[in-house]
Amino acid sequence: MLGILLAAGRGTRMKSARPKVLFEINDEPICFPPFRALFEVCDRVIIVVGYRGAEVRESLLKRANEAFGEEAVKAKVLFYTQEEQKGTGHAVRTALDGLGKSLGSYEATIVLNGDLPLIRESTLRPLVSEFVARSLDALCLSFDAADPTGFGRILRDDKGLLLGIREEKDASESERKIREVNGGVYCFRNTLLGPALAELKTDNKQNEFYLTDLLGTLKQPKLKTEAIVSNAEDLLGVNTTFELADLRQLSQRRLKKDLCERYGVDFVNIDSIFVSARAVFQGPCRVGPGCSIMGSSVIGEDVNLEGHVLLKNSRISKGAHILWSSVIDESIVGERTKVGPMAHLRMNTVLGDDVKVGNFVETKKTTLARGAKASHLSYLGDAEVGEESNIGAGTITCNYDGFNKFKTKIGKRAFIGSDSQLVAPVSIGDDAYVGSGTTVTEDVPAGALAISRPDMVVKEGYAKKLADKRNLTKKD
Ligand code: UD1
Ligand code: CA
Repeated sequence: MLGILLAAGRGTRMKSARPKVLFEINDEPICFPPFRALFEVCDRVIIVVGYRGAEVRESLLKRANEAFGEEAVKAKVLFYTQEEQKGTGHAVRTALDGLGKSLGSYEATIVLNGDLPLIRESTLRPLVSEFVARSLDALCLSFDAADPTGFGRILRDDKGLLLGIREEKDASESERKIREVNGGVYCFRNTLLGPALAELKTDNKQNEFYLTDLLGTLKQPKLKTEAIVSNAEDLLGVNTTFELADLRQLSQRRLKKDLCERYGVDFVNIDSIFVSARAVFQGPCRVGPGCSIMGSSVIGEDVNLEGHVLLKNSRISKGAHILWSSVIDESIVGERTKVGPMAHLRMNTVLGDDVKVGNFVETKKTTLARGAKASHLSYLGDAEVGEESNIGAGTITCNYDGFNKFKTKIGKRAFIGSDSQLVAPVSIGDDAYVGSGTTVTEDVPAGALAISRPDMVVKEGYAKKLADKRNLTKKD
């Protein structure tokens, strides 16, 4: 089986310079779900690109490599460029021209429009089985549209036999009333596909080569073609940004339902939560209201994301608890570790097991080893914190001198007093103490105490003396 994905069009009704197939649903390009379905069913997949083709190719490859591995993708996937977008029939011809003689190694071809983000492998199963069972030459999936506007209408005779597909712009008043429409999913017998495409004409309102002209007895009396009614939801397409918004909601619900059924993910206030299709769940866990799980994040078993937590390309290990409104970006959180509320972990922060990072703590390129704590109001950048160390409230690593970034290294079981500044590069040994309010500018050896703080002075009766002085000046 050969698969062809049509992704060369611009999508003018989106009113954007961005190619339609690169708008995102569930944090992946619109054209990825139909690509995935083809990848799972076909022996080879061709993607026809055109408008901003290099970008489409790059985005699709990136996502495909992430999902299936570079080797598998390289072995199966080819891109061809349709220089001028002369219609869906012309796009398929471009793919076949590219493939040349090796077309003969495939019996049939599945063609999918690239703008069908709800397509899945199961949508294609009845297409293939019906095609084979009835030894058809061409088959397409149709559906009953509540509003058929914009779709090609399925024309049938009294007996229900397929006469053809009429594009909206070419349709008569009465044809426009037909609600059975073409879904943009096709299967063709390869021996006939090439010759039939060569005969296509552009005798229509859009002056295009319509792939849809290959179906129905009106234009192809010798071929055995059919349209079968399929699940309407799977075939919903994107033509405008409003349709995109609608499909985003639908596909989010579908994705989350699957996660509930497969892993027992407990979504609290499910419609307020966003989950990327690229995220991986490892078992039952709880996701509170307003959370956004973006990119290729991994969520372990028994994790609790309390609410309004934003995760991006991060790994949250088993039993971790992320409290309200924390932001975790490109970071790793260990088992049973507690983060937040309102903590910000970013750029390769790595927290070990049983760590605690509390409110208003920001970390960047920082490691906290097992059992370390930074409970309140700190900035830890380019730092390494050893096991069981305690970082006091308000501690700041001064990692930037205006030109370069420097590292702070803190050993095991160290105690950094509140409101200290660690001026990097600097290191603090195992079991060392830093007195509260200290500005650390030199290395502190293991087991030592570092303290830089002027001696405190107490002036008894100061308030009264001050008040007396004020009263004197008033009388004057
Ligand atoms: C097409 C069908 C219509 C069907 C609808 C379903 C045709 C002629 N019409 O209409 O019957 O109801 O899909 O969604 O096929 N593309 C190319 N090269 C081109 C033109 C298009 O690669 O030269 C790609 C587009 O990127 C898109 C897909 O083909 O992914 C469909 O094109 P689009 O313009 O959206 O077709 P519709 O007018 O929606
Ligand atoms: Ca379309």
